[in-house]
Amino acid sequence: MKDKFYITTPIYYPSGNWHIGHCYTTVICDAVARFQRMLGKDVFFLTGTDEHGAKIEKKAAEKGCTPMEFINPLVDDIKSIWSALNIKYDKFIRTTDDYHVKAIQKIFKTLYDKGEIYKSEYSGWYCTPCESFWTDTQLKDGKCPDCGREVTLEKEESYFFRLSKYTDRIMKLYEDNPEFLEPKSRVNEMVNNFLKPGLQDLCVSRTSIKWGIPVDFDPKHTVYVWIDALSNYITALGYGSDDDSLFKKYWPADLHLMGKEIIRFHSIIWPAILMALDLPLPKKVYGHGWLLIGGDKLSKSKQDKVKYELTDPKQLVSRYGSDALRYFLLREIPFGSDGVYTTESFIGRINSDLANDLGNLVSRTTAMINKYFGGVLPAPESPEPIDNELISIAEGLYDKVVKAMEAPDAPTALIEIFRLISRANKYIDETAPWVLAKDENNKKRLGTVMYNLAESIRIAAVYLKPFMTECPEKILAAFSLEGKDYDTFDKVKKFGGLKAGTKVDMIPHIFPRLDITKELEEVKAIAEERMKREKTEKEKINNGGKPDSGSDKQSEKQEKPEITFDDFSKVQLKVALVTACEKVEKSKKLLKLTVKLGDETRTVVSGISGAYEPEQMVGKKVVMVTNLKPAKLCGIMSEGMILCAEDENGVLSYLSPEKDMPDGSGIY
Ligand code: MSP
Repeated sequence: MKDKFYITTPIYYPSGNWHIGHCYTTVICDAVARFQRMLGKDVFFLTGTDEHGAKIEKKAAEKGCTPMEFINPLVDDIKSIWSALNIKYDKFIRTTDDYHVKAIQKIFKTLYDKGEIYKSEYSGWYCTPCESFWTDTQLKDGKCPDCGREVTLEKEESYFFRLSKYTDRIMKLYEDNPEFLEPKSRVNEMVNNFLKPGLQDLCVSRTSIKWGIPVDFDPKHTVYVWIDALSNYITALGYGSDDDSLFKKYWPADLHLMGKEIIRFHSIIWPAILMALDLPLPKKVYGHGWLLIGGDKLSKSKQDKVKYELTDPKQLVSRYGSDALRYFLLREIPFGSDGVYTTESFIGRINSDLANDLGNLVSRTTAMINKYFGGVLPAPESPEPIDNELISIAEGLYDKVVKAMEAPDAPTALIEIFRLISRANKYIDETAPWVLAKDENNKKRLGTVMYNLAESIRIAAVYLKPFMTECPEKILAAFSLEGKDYDTFDKVKKFGGLKAGTKVDMIPHIFPRLDITKELEEVKAIAEERMKREKTEKEKINNGGKPDSGSDKQSEKQEKPEITFDDFSKVQLKVALVTACEKVEKSKKLLKLTVKLGDETRTVVSGISGAYEPEQMVGKKVVMVTNLKPAKLCGIMSEGMILCAEDENGVLSYLSPEKDMPDGSGIY
């Protein structure tokens, strides 16, 4: 029976804002999965999406759709990115999948019945507009880290997982299994920052968040974040369902790979949950570094720093091919550390490694075999010392690459493979086939040189298969070979497998050399185009779906001319109580509000639908212009205007008197 290998990426948030940094984890996992398959293992590679939580709920509300309507196209989008990059996963889990939801409810109940989860009270800083709780450390200058608004200290009934009781067991886990958490620097981080100070029990349910998995025995609670998200690694295998055969076959995971910012959840919380469930622990958790773009991890707020870089994976793939992007991600970033993406470094890698080293070797060799031997591979004669050096590098590759990929250190594995490629290029210069070709007596030697080059290329191409998915196949095809016949490394461990007499086609440019100046200019133009498009999109959203004419909003934002007190006093402002509120059909932007102004009731249509749900507005006191000439909006007569503040991103916040004032009160 084959050995099994279970590898996972984290499940991705459906942010829709994916950039090449996100692709890093998945590309490495794909390369490792392909590599392990070629070692003859029975591999299961899992990826998916992490679809619950307040943020999604809020974004969907802003778009005027349900969370599922918001998420579904994003899931399609991430799947299309993985397909563009030739990512070959075995399963894609969505945390909204029915089987996952049921399994999480079972896990939660099991933990509760075992006394691992208990009910208590959560206290934290609450941001009302964001409907989010924050801890002291998450606040930014004492304000909500998401929207920058005031927060209040609030309490909420919650369930807690007894994480604190696992402090010693996790410490011992690291001591007894030095390979459990890598790289080593992450162990020190976890021990010093979290284990030594002692773990705190973990809040695992919320009553204030609705978009999530309900706790079935106490449905006003929603399972909160980590039990839901982390358990995907076992529910995807059928744990907690009627058919857990995959779980029995593949669990424990051989490798959980992720970025360093989520290592704590995977190396502390996840093993503690598994311990509480009496389940085996993953063999290895690896926290890789970040791809820094413009010196940053590329969080949404920092994207302006990288405005002249192309960061959209699909755009990069369509421009440079998936192999180029896969190769860059796997080769450029020292494994475990951060690495930097710039257009220059990307184009530089393509030119130096793929176009020059690999491309030239293949084009020169296939051209010479065609020129000197009519495209038919000659048989080799007994090797000379210089041949033996090349042969020994090729035959030594297996151990080196396997050792590197155990880590799994893809850059080192690629460096080893490219050592063979560089040595073969040097071998061409040293053996000077064009000189040998001048003398018919050297024909046999020339044949040996050609054979050794072709065989080195075959071996290198097979080792490259897990890392790049298209060019190795093309190279093998030029030597009348098929990639599918090389589903393991068995046929490349020994030099000499290529048959003399094989037909060899020319491959002139497997990776064409790119003009860096031209690329930089074009990339900048594309990035500028993207920014323009994004701006229009944003304006469209702010403008209820219509592209902005540019005039209204902009003129509103410009500073207005000075007015006299008399001008101002023409405006009648009053406190209004919202007594009813509903969405205006066919409008994404408008809400219809019924308001009470003392004895008077009025209808007002307001463009705040993206910011507030109708039920949020009922019972609120707002500031209203009451003497504005009534106007029809979407067929409804609006008798006034609700005042709102708007930030530069178009986020709206209605104004309300600081104290509870009676409705109808004048504002002066
Ligand atoms: N949903 C959580 C994971 C839950 S796992 C039980 C999450 N999702 S994510 O979409 O934010 O991140 C997915 C992966 O992308 C993570 O491994 C993260 O580290 C990686 N990256 C996102 N930006 C990155 C870079 N700029 N560079 C490298 N990887 C980074 O976290």
